[in-house]
Amino acid sequence: MSPAEQAEKFGAELAIVLGSGLGSFVDRMDIAFDVPYGGNSGLPVSSVPGHAGRLVFGTLGGVRIAAAQGRVHLYEGRSAADVTTGVRWLAAAGVKRLILTNAAGSLNPHFPPGQWMMLSDHLNLTGTSPLLGGPNFIDMTRVYCPEWRSRFLDLAGQRGLPLHEGVYAGLLGPQYETPAEVRMIRSLGADAVGMSTVLEAIQARALGLQVAAFSCLTNWGAGLSPDLLSHAEVMETGHSSAAALAALLEDAITAS
Ligand code: HPA
Repeated sequence: MSPAEQAEKFGAELAIVLGSGLGSFVDRMDIAFDVPYGGNSGLPVSSVPGHAGRLVFGTLGGVRIAAAQGRVHLYEGRSAADVTTGVRWLAAAGVKRLILTNAAGSLNPHFPPGQWMMLSDHLNLTGTSPLLGGPNFIDMTRVYCPEWRSRFLDLAGQRGLPLHEGVYAGLLGPQYETPAEVRMIRSLGADAVGMSTVLEAIQARALGLQVAAFSCLTNWGAGLSPDLLSHAEVMETGHSSAAALAALLEDAITAS
């Protein structure tokens, strides 16, 4: 059986994409099997440290899910189509609901690093789209499902987990922003900035999936604190904040 056939047979209805430092979410799952990226899977391999490349299939509280450890990014020199191959692959395998996670810089003084922001909306500042090539004029009014968001907010309240809501700006990268760019992006209405998620969300909506997304705020945007930015800091904050969101996601998945 090919990996795609195996995935379809397993019948995961929900998938979660784990961003930088967040891969340990799979420790909460009863793992059935995994599909390494590359080889005969048809899934592109990431070159970023901290982005192990595999799709893990298993159950969480009895619910069948798929968790993507690692993703490819535009800044690796990949196309918008490559970046969203995993979303199309999962949809073809029967996934109907998608949770995207990422690491992001905070632009909002009320959203300190170490806390989580749920995306209410996004700014696609990558300059590209996975839908290029066709007259795919999809509606983008409610990318991040309002009903799902209110359920996550309720559950976070019950858990006492600070969960902010805000606008994520997705940029090309791979360099972090300059302070001038951070001022510009803030003035455009963004609360957080990162280098992923927006293209996957667009692709998922084009396929009719229900989408939610969460940013682990790993640092202040450049120039908003005296500190310089480093990938090591992003990974470290991701690791130490992962457990709080993982518990919330587990509640949300098992209650659904
Ligand atoms: N900018 C862009 N991407 C990021 C950041 C940031 O400050 N932190 C984590 N990913």
